[in-house]
Formats: sequence, structure tokens, C-alpha cells
Amino acid sequence: MEIGFGNGEHLAHFAARHPDWGCIGAEVHAPGVGALLQRLEAGSIDNVRVLHGDAMAWIETLPPALFALIVIQFPDPWPKKRHHKRRLLQEASAKRLADLLVPGGELQFATDWEPYAQHALTVLDATPSLENLAPGGGFSPPPENRIPTRFERRGEALGHQVFDLRFRRRPG
Ligand SMILES: C[S@@+](CC[C@H](N)C(=O)[O-])C[C@H]1O[C@@H](n2cnc3c(N)ncnc32)[C@H](O)[C@@H]1O
Repeated sequence: MEIGFGNGEHLAHFAARHPDWGCIGAEVHAPGVGALLQRLEAGSIDNVRVLHGDAMAWIETLPPALFALIVIQFPDPWPKKRHHKRRLLQEASAKRLADLLVPGGELQFATDWEPYAQHALTVLDATPSLENLAPGGGFSPPPENRIPTRFERRGEALGHQVFDLRFRRRPG
């Protein structure tokens, strides 16, 4: 499951490489949904379902232990302090996302906004049902499935470093 897939570059790529996986992505921005649908049609990719809407409201309606992988890449950083509460990853949403993972399932998060990366690390570290997959804790090397997206390229052009986090749902 990918939250905020943008124009669907990563989701379409992932689904094409994993035809035996059932994939789902949520995106609020209609042109992004259209771009993903075009990619899926062009690639004859038929293992993706799409939610056009607010992923954070939708995940509240789901039963636990649904997903083997949850991906959030380059979420809106909301750099101003008064907007921090709008960030997708917060204490409560981290717990909810962890509940949606099957035991052993993985949450992947990437951002080029360092303060958000530090916030995400703090929040995920504080989620008891998650364990950090980075040896020794902290940030991870990029997962092999992550490909450069439009927002990563934009960050790179601005000279930003990219921070990856990989956490696993503990058993039980
Ligand atoms: C900065 S863009 C990154 C897009 C893509 N992941 C990438 O790396 O290119 C963040 C995306 O998250 C989407 N988004 C923000 N809040 C969302 C929500 N609550 N539910 C679904 N999508 C959301 C935005 O519409 C936007 O397309």
C-alpha cells in the first residue's frame, strides 16, 4: 500500500515488478490518479487498486494486519512549525499504520526534508509494535524497490539529502 503516490511512478514500477502482489495506492490529487491509471494501462499492469481520496481517513476504516508493505515517499514536508500537525506521520498515525501491517510487514518512509526525517525517526522509534531495520538504529540505505521519483529529483536538484527509514512490525 502506498500513501500519496504522486504521479504513480513508484507504484506502477513496483506492481510491474511484483505481478503476484496485490497493490493499492491512495492519492488525493486527481491528476496524479490519472497519471497512475495511464501508466497502468500502458504497462498492462492489472494488480493495482486505486483510492482517489484521503488515505488517512481511509485507513481508519480498515481492519488490522492487512498489508505486507506500506510505503510513504516524499510526503509533503509542511516545514512551518504551525503546520507540523498536518504531516502524515504523527504518533497516532504511526500506531495505526503499524496495526495495518502483518507481523513481519514493513513500513518504508523517505523524505528529503531533514527535520521531517528526524521527526519520523522519533515517532517510529516510539511505536512499540515497530522495530527499526537499520543495523544500530537510525536511517537505512534505500530499499531496493525505491526508484527516483519526481519529488526525489526535485530534492536532489535543490541539493537535499534523502533519508530512508525502514521499520518492521514485530510478531504478535
Ligand atoms: C510531495 S508529493 C510526493 C509524491 C510521490 N510520493 C513522489 O515521491 O513523487 C506528496 C503527495 O502526497 C499526496 N497526499 C498528501 N496527503 C495525502 C492524503 N491524506 N492522502 C492521500 N494522498 C495525500 C499529495 O497529493 C501529493 O501527491
